[in-house]
Amino acid sequence: MAIKVGTVFNYLQLPNVSKFPFVINKRQDNIFVQKGLFVYTKSNEGFLIGVIEEIILLNEYFTDALTIKAYNNNNNPNILKGLFPSEDFEFAIAIVKCLGLIKFKDNNLKEIEKVQRMTYPASPGKGVYIVEEDILFKFLGFDTDYGLDLGQVKVTNSKAKINMNRLLNKHFAILSISGGGKSYLTSVLIEELLSRNEDYGTPAIILFDVHGEYIYLKDIPELKNKIKIQDISYFQIGIPKLSVYSFKKYQEQISYVQIRELSKYIKKLKRDKNRKNQYTLNDIIGQIENETEGNRSTKQALVGWLSELKRLTLFGSQENPLLNNVVNKQQLTIFNFQKEISIRKKQIIVDYICNRLFELRRTNNIPPFLLIVEEAHQFCPEAAHAKAISKPIIEMIAREGRKFMACLCLISQRPKKLSTTALSQCNSKLVLNIKNPYDLKHLMDSSEAITKEYTSMISSLGVGEMLIMGNAVNYPVFIDVRERNFKSKSEETSLAQFCLNWQSKEL
Ligand SMILES: Nc1ncnc2c1ncn2[C@@H]1O[C@H](COP(=O)(O)OP(=O)(O)OP(=O)(O)O)[C@@H](O)[C@H]1O
Ligand SMILES: [Mg+2]
Repeated sequence: MAIKVGTVFNYLQLPNVSKFPFVINKRQDNIFVQKGLFVYTKSNEGFLIGVIEEIILLNEYFTDALTIKAYNNNNNPNILKGLFPSEDFEFAIAIVKCLGLIKFKDNNLKEIEKVQRMTYPASPGKGVYIVEEDILFKFLGFDTDYGLDLGQVKVTNSKAKINMNRLLNKHFAILSISGGGKSYLTSVLIEELLSRNEDYGTPAIILFDVHGEYIYLKDIPELKNKIKIQDISYFQIGIPKLSVYSFKKYQEQISYVQIRELSKYIKKLKRDKNRKNQYTLNDIIGQIENETEGNRSTKQALVGWLSELKRLTLFGSQENPLLNNVVNKQQLTIFNFQKEISIRKKQIIVDYICNRLFELRRTNNIPPFLLIVEEAHQFCPEAAHAKAISKPIIEMIAREGRKFMACLCLISQRPKKLSTTALSQCNSKLVLNIKNPYDLKHLMDSSEAITKEYTSMISSLGVGEMLIMGNAVNYPVFIDVRERNFKSKSEETSLAQFCLNWQSKEL
């Protein structure tokens, strides 16, 4: 049975098409009308659903300064209680932001046929009711049966079961200040994807773990078979897999004239049948040095640039690990960058992996995947002066990946520093607390769903509270992110305990 919480009335210039006010009924048992609650009323057009945006308490007795003076001056308020029945005159008003009109199938109030935009205001005098859970789920676009359980919809007892297809069909971003809970939310999402029933279909997950925060997942018995950890110290780029322009990308100073020369040497190595398309940087250098023809200074410069690349100790005759072997359906591959400090080296690795994954996906050699990029502003920055080797490929996946079922998840604590091209392609946004006004403005610029009202709510979110908006849901929803099912050891150790256990390493 529908639970009535109030009655629509006229207040200031409302109701209009986008908002309506209602007087809240006196508090009933177990019903607490709060900001964020989803309610509906029957308007001339149909069932009008909205969310309570503001609650105002009014008391006519206390709008007049003289009455307050008289009330406070009296030495015996009990005598005046009869004259000033102020408590009886207190009433609360809720302002509801209209979200949409529901059309039900064949007047069956359980089956939503479609949701429309409203064109007419709510009617004063009509009752206001709480939206029932199953209607709310359908209205928000949740997937009650197979959805990813990310937590609880705020002000309700309902689980936020996000539809996986809707979240991963287009790219998404997880944004907040440092410590806002991005990595925590990401591990909740990973738990959900890895524990999904095998019959439902789940893409492969690839994660760039900049600080080694996710390797604890490998210690969890329920998940460990589905997780591969690749330490970047052993990572090797396969030189034969690189196009000649990749050399310019990795070593910017190489000129186009030198690149043209380089391509001739590489072609010769590729044609050499004995090598079976296996050669290293050393082989290219050898080829250049042994060549009698060609401009000497160009050759010298090339050898210099290639030797500098060699010092990165990143290149070999074959890629390691073989990327098509480590990417599997419903498995997580973590590239652990914890021990690497050189940002250039990290960007080269990210660039190479992204390029290869995209190519392998386009040629259907690996399953659809979700690529999670932690600290995305390091790999795909906005500013022109903060060039990043990996920026073009991340922007390319952001623009084109969707057509090939390659989904990108960008995680960042500085949205302002993240490429606008990439961020604006992130259709769904999972936003935790953001305080910086520049970041909020950047977010507003990159997504029309984020209005001024939302930005003020975003800046007051607590740890573990998020706003999800975009393709994943029909309307922006506030969610309390659930606790992780599996905890890391370090999470259970307090700082004091860690200090007690710490011992200096013997030199
Ligand atoms: N949903 C949650 N439930 C309980 N605790 C949480 C939740 N989200 C975050 N936390 C707590 O907040 C801490 C910081 O979260 P997290 O490491 O995810 O932040 P972050 O946004 O990734 O920060 P950074 O940008 O510095 O990487 C976590 O260690 C955890 O204790
Ligand atoms: Mg983090």
